[in-house]
Amino acid sequence: MRHLLSTEDLDKADAIRILDTAEEMAAVSDREVKKLPVLRGRTVVNLFFEDSTRTRISFEAAAKRLSADVINFAAKGSSVSKGESLKDTAQTLEAMGADAVVIRHWASGAPARLAASDWIDAAVVNAGDGTHEHPTQALLDAFTMRRNWARINGTASAGTDLSGMKVAIVGDVLHSRVARSNLWLLRTLGADLTLVAPPTLLPVGVEQWPCSVSYDLDETLATGPHAVMMLRVQGERMNAAFFPSTREYSRRWGFDDRRLAALDAAGARETIIMHPGPMNRGLEISAAAADSPRSTVLQQVRNGVSVRMAALYLLLSGESSSAAPTQEAQR
Ligand code: NCD
Repeated sequence: MRHLLSTEDLDKADAIRILDTAEEMAAVSDREVKKLPVLRGRTVVNLFFEDSTRTRISFEAAAKRLSADVINFAAKGSSVSKGESLKDTAQTLEAMGADAVVIRHWASGAPARLAASDWIDAAVVNAGDGTHEHPTQALLDAFTMRRNWARINGTASAGTDLSGMKVAIVGDVLHSRVARSNLWLLRTLGADLTLVAPPTLLPVGVEQWPCSVSYDLDETLATGPHAVMMLRVQGERMNAAFFPSTREYSRRWGFDDRRLAALDAAGARETIIMHPGPMNRGLEISAAAADSPRSTVLQQVRNGVSVRMAALYLLLSGESSSAAPTQEAQR
């Protein structure tokens, strides 16, 4: 693996290798000293053209736990035209000796452009590009689902996929790179996916995607999904009215208190409620749902560091090492 640009081009073996490596990384994060020396002397640049809290901090924590040097570069506000600014910035980073560039960009395709260019040699990691993809988010979601699925089945998670798991992704699919990355990865891992959204928040051509589509959240919840992922309503990407009112939205598409109670009444004890963050509490998810024992929001954040450690390790340790990261640390 040279770059991590999308989940669409991750095969099953690669996906499971990343998730299994993340399990090893999680064990490191449970230790008192949360650090491995495997990327000592390597430089990871966080290049963020768009706002981010948890993704940027998560990549920073991941790189530091692997002992890499980290440079944070917030490019927001640059007035140079897109192509030029990306090229100039990339060449600057190259000159500074970046080994990996973690890039978030408002333009779909920017990370792929960087990876295909001769501007840099560094490994490129897509940390979210426009409405296109957010592969490490999907990987941390899959990691979280796999652990919970293993718990439900009373098995170990390492080495397994998600066959048999029923997943619903709910809300603003149209603007969501998280939904797209999850779609491809869940297909590869064998989960059964239903997208639930108002028709106005589904992309044209969704019927060709490898999933079912529903407009009715209660109907989908009645089928007993094992994971329900609520998407943020992305106001900043909306230039029109996509639904009548926020009240109407939460009544029809939000995970509100009524739906939480219905899930409890149905005896669906194992169903988890996921959200990538940042949450609009009271809109797509109620405070009670977000803070309930079903919620995996904080598990997702924690798992994000392990998954990003795995991705950086697999990209940067290269062919020089086929040993497991924890074995390598003991050498
Ligand atoms: C997501 C993103 O930025 O795409 N957030 C994240 O990375 N944690 C989802 C979102 O912004 O709604």
